[in-house]
Amino acid sequence: MIDTTQEMDVRNLPRKGKPRPADVTGHAFYGRDILSVDQFGREDLEYIFRVADEMRTLVERFGSADLLQGKVLANLFYEPSTRTAASFMAAMQRLGGQVIPINNVQYSSVAKGESLPDTVRTLEAYADVVVLRHPEVGSAALAARYAHKPLINAGDGIGEHPTQALLDIFTIYEEFGHIDGLKVAMVGDLKYGRTVHSLTKLLLLYDVAFYFVSPDILRMPEDIIERVKASGHSFREVVDIHEIIHEVDVLYVTRVQKERFDDLAKYEAVKDFYVVDPELMQQAKERMIVMHPFPRVGEISYAVDDDPRAAYFRQIENGMYVRMALLAAVLGKA
Ligand code: NCD
Repeated sequence: MIDTTQEMDVRNLPRKGKPRPADVTGHAFYGRDILSVDQFGREDLEYIFRVADEMRTLVERFGSADLLQGKVLANLFYEPSTRTAASFMAAMQRLGGQVIPINNVQYSSVAKGESLPDTVRTLEAYADVVVLRHPEVGSAALAARYAHKPLINAGDGIGEHPTQALLDIFTIYEEFGHIDGLKVAMVGDLKYGRTVHSLTKLLLLYDVAFYFVSPDILRMPEDIIERVKASGHSFREVVDIHEIIHEVDVLYVTRVQKERFDDLAKYEAVKDFYVVDPELMQQAKERMIVMHPFPRVGEISYAVDDDPRAAYFRQIENGMYVRMALLAAVLGKA
């Protein structure tokens, strides 16, 4: 088990490494770890939205740039990933940087029993920034305590997935032009889904109404519900998606997280609980969007893909622009 007893205030993380004068832009994220969405305020998000938009333009016009030339990213994945790993790699490469991809830890010294701190301290000797995905809650915070270079949490078990939440909220902003006033439904595995944990916390910065739609055994964890209550946001917990489909602006669908279940019979009982199909979409507003962090394993039928309200492939593309913006900020080049 990861030792998370030493609580950290993630809003006040120290800058790391020695800033070189040419690098210093004064941006708040320069040299910092990105561990939790709690580090972000509205102004930070507005900044990331602006830079991510610039990154989109840059990619559309030129394909790549040399902003991070000479910089190296170590991409350390202890859990499977397609989008998060590939989009960090693409982001780094499109900004002229290089990547050390370690995504088959069974072939690395981790398989020989190397500890997370030793692995991270080794990789940071070669790199300027480390991206880490790990199955245990608190792993990113633990690794960051040992690392001298910035460490970015790419998912720590059922804990947080801050960069996913940033790309999710950027997508909502891009699709509607605003976030305040929207009604956001999160659907599926709200218990084990780290993306909805991070996104809910981040959306608390805005005036949104929440709908938490899940089978009873996959309800949103109590600590997050408490935060929503304490902040005074309106929220409803429902089991039947038909009760709310006609009123939501954002339908954020998630996969039931099979790998987090001890009892696979329980997984089987809930895995097909929700399926977003054209029939359900007929009951949704004309102007709304469907999102999903992917991978999908049946929660959204392929027949929905051609519906202009299906925003999930646009969301995936946005992930690269947001990660370009983040890497530039953390490496002092934004
Ligand atoms: C998510 C994750 O890994 O938490 N995927 C992702 O990063 N895009 C969601 C999931 O695995 O269901």
